[in-house]
Amino acid sequence: RPAGPCALVMFGVTGDLARKKLLPALYDLANRRLLPDSFCVVGFGRRDWSDADFAAEVESYVRAGARTPFNAETWQRLAAGLRFVPAQGFDDDDAFARLGQTLVELEDSRGTGGNHAFYLSIPPNSFETVCEKLSAHGLARRSQSAVDSWSRVIIEKPFGHDEASAHELNQVVESVFASNEVFRIDHYLGKETVQNLLALRFANRLFEPLWNNQHVDHVQITMAEEIGIEGRASYYDGVGAARDVIQNHLLQLLALTAMEEPINFDADHLRREKEKVLEAVQVPEDLDAASARGQYSSGEQNGQSIAGFLNEEGFDPESITETFAAFKLGVRTRRWAGVPFYLRSGKRLATRVTEIAVMFRRAPNLLFTSADEDQFGQNALIIRIQPNEGATLRLASKVPGTQMDIRDVDMDFSYGSTFTEQSPEAYERLILDVLLGDPPLFPRHREVELSWQILDPFLKHWESQTQQPMPYAPGSWGPESSNDLLRRDGRQWRLR
Ligand code: BG6
Repeated sequence: RPAGPCALVMFGVTGDLARKKLLPALYDLANRRLLPDSFCVVGFGRRDWSDADFAAEVESYVRAGARTPFNAETWQRLAAGLRFVPAQGFDDDDAFARLGQTLVELEDSRGTGGNHAFYLSIPPNSFETVCEKLSAHGLARRSQSAVDSWSRVIIEKPFGHDEASAHELNQVVESVFASNEVFRIDHYLGKETVQNLLALRFANRLFEPLWNNQHVDHVQITMAEEIGIEGRASYYDGVGAARDVIQNHLLQLLALTAMEEPINFDADHLRREKEKVLEAVQVPEDLDAASARGQYSSGEQNGQSIAGFLNEEGFDPESITETFAAFKLGVRTRRWAGVPFYLRSGKRLATRVTEIAVMFRRAPNLLFTSADEDQFGQNALIIRIQPNEGATLRLASKVPGTQMDIRDVDMDFSYGSTFTEQSPEAYERLILDVLLGDPPLFPRHREVELSWQILDPFLKHWESQTQQPMPYAPGSWGPESSNDLLRRDGRQWRLR
């Protein structure tokens, strides 16, 4: 369904995310005919750009980052609605006044209907200023001339640094925008495979009877990246892996894996079920035994020499920021009591992969033997979020031959060989949903605060310690303490 008339105002339009993801995603939406001809993008930032300069910049981002081929006609359509409002900073009242005039002009000249979405792709310490200025200049309200118009705000993580700051941030944003006008982006929820988790669980009969502590031994959620910090020191130092991706992406994956079936997929029901899981998450008492943190050291990865995290430009050489984090969590519900959920994420790991592995209990009576018992008998459903999107069911099978030899084999479903349809980029889906006013894929503030409640005890504990995170070699699977986390429970990581 295409979006209706509107203007998207982008704060932080010169930033990395806007350049690499957001503006190319807008072009792709336009190319797929999901944006109206009247669609406008207003950049707001500290550059002395004219509209034409802005258009030239956007064109270069689109040519470099769009998924769909460059099409001159689409580009002309999009470019006609590009405007730039130069500002001295986010507290520049004159610039906000000019932004207001630009929006009125666009309503008249291009027919945006007075519908405005404000994208705050900026550091959270600027949220308050921008929200206040939008409010003071009457921009956060619906347009006076179009009574049925809408106004929405899109915010990017990090949603705070801990529960208290997330709460403050929520209060600031929700003092200006109504809660149903606030769209918090967690781009993992825009991924096709993450949405497919709901289909896999609730459109099939097969898995649900097994989806509980009678049959599931434990769950492993891994988000591994090969890349390092990529020049993002100013953002990453003091943030680290737990705050960067576990508080949001991985806990969302946990919630979708563990939640009960919602009555339907509308925003309220879906979020309510996720919140119930987050509320039931149990943090083990021994925080050391239930977590691991690491920092990559210097070394070689894929034949390239890699400078250790502490030698990366922009980092305090004594930084205790972790580039790898792993946790063991429980979920205190009848369905999940006793089933550990192990979560881990890190930079500069062996390969790029995000997956959820539901590891089942072994058959109660194994008639078969094998030289290596570990070689078979633990069924697993592995949901591959990326890359090689799909799912694998791991089963024991007889190896052809005269012996009764058993080995685990894979039953594979892959998007690449099953579908001809192309998956949209996560940001395409999410931006379109904002413009359509469709909120299920956006966590509401309670979810964000609950996720911080889970991490806060670990983060405080880590900060109270004097020792550095454990070093690990680039291209490895993280520090030894991550293996210990499972070893203590007689288990091991599937990918290691
Ligand atoms: C972002 C993190 O949220 O997700 C980055 O800030 C990380 O550090 C990125 O690299 C990974 O996203 P994806 O979609 O490539 O898995």
